[in-house]
Amino acid sequence: MAYLLSTENFSKMSELVYRRSGILLQNEKHFEKLAKFIDARALTLGLDSFRKYFYKLRFDDNDESEFQELMNAITVNETYFYREKDQFEVLVNNVLPELDTNTKDLRPLRILSAPCSSGEEAYSIILHILEEGVVVEKRDIEVVGIDIDSTVIKKAIQGSFSERSVHAIPKNILAKWFKKRSLSYDIHENLRGTIDFKVANVFDKIQMRKLGKFDVIFSRNMMIYFDDESRKQVAMTFYDMLNPGGYVLLGHAEYMSRIVSVFNAKKIDTTLIYQK
Ligand SMILES: C[S@@+](CC[C@H](N)C(=O)[O-])C[C@H]1O[C@@H](n2cnc3c(N)ncnc32)[C@H](O)[C@@H]1O
Repeated sequence: MAYLLSTENFSKMSELVYRRSGILLQNEKHFEKLAKFIDARALTLGLDSFRKYFYKLRFDDNDESEFQELMNAITVNETYFYREKDQFEVLVNNVLPELDTNTKDLRPLRILSAPCSSGEEAYSIILHILEEGVVVEKRDIEVVGIDIDSTVIKKAIQGSFSERSVHAIPKNILAKWFKKRSLSYDIHENLRGTIDFKVANVFDKIQMRKLGKFDVIFSRNMMIYFDDESRKQVAMTFYDMLNPGGYVLLGHAEYMSRIVSVFNAKKIDTTLIYQK
């Protein structure tokens, strides 16, 4: 099967994807998926060569809708509720009580899930706060979820999840906060709309600045797709976005000490957290 994409042009595409999203594409892993995607887009757009598609993407995409199509096609959105659950426990048992004590004014504490994929991480934060957190009784907490992929953000806003996605939620909590439909579990109407979900790219400094300052940033299982230079950039963006004393939590396989040295690492049981 002949694709519009050639090996040489794959390098041009991967360079553009890397520069704009931090995501590293590898020929062996991603060529076929990308080639099929470009053929499908070219057909939809009435373009008959890679050169025309690439021109459209680079120079004729003012609203970035073509770039958005590309991002939606290449991102890996794997996620589920209560993934790496010990971090949510550390959030409600250690991090939030400490932040509550140390921030004297009664402003809301703000938590960012970046990336949130289809929302499971951000809702897991809310569910832990509601079910186990004492801080919530005295203080407003705001949760914001962002992802570069607009299809997952749409799903997050809809709040309708698959059996696989909810499999790790304890049965009593599932029964309390979800409505079982024939093919899905829908989040309770009292929770729908409590999280501010937005499409945003962590490399877009303007979008990041607009989100404001946070007390806690969850950034799990995204930087594994980046190289060291991109990880460093994102870590410093998060540093700037945190209030003094705020925390970053990374995925289990990710270590801030290998990225930047500006955070103080703390170990609570087996969980590492990083303080500004
Ligand atoms: C594997 S999911 C992780 C979701 C969740 N944090 C978790 O651990 O379950 C990775 C997400 O990172 C998002 N992503 C990749 N590059 C991004 C970028 N530059 N800005 C924002 N999100 C990005 C992808 O769209 C994808 O949904």
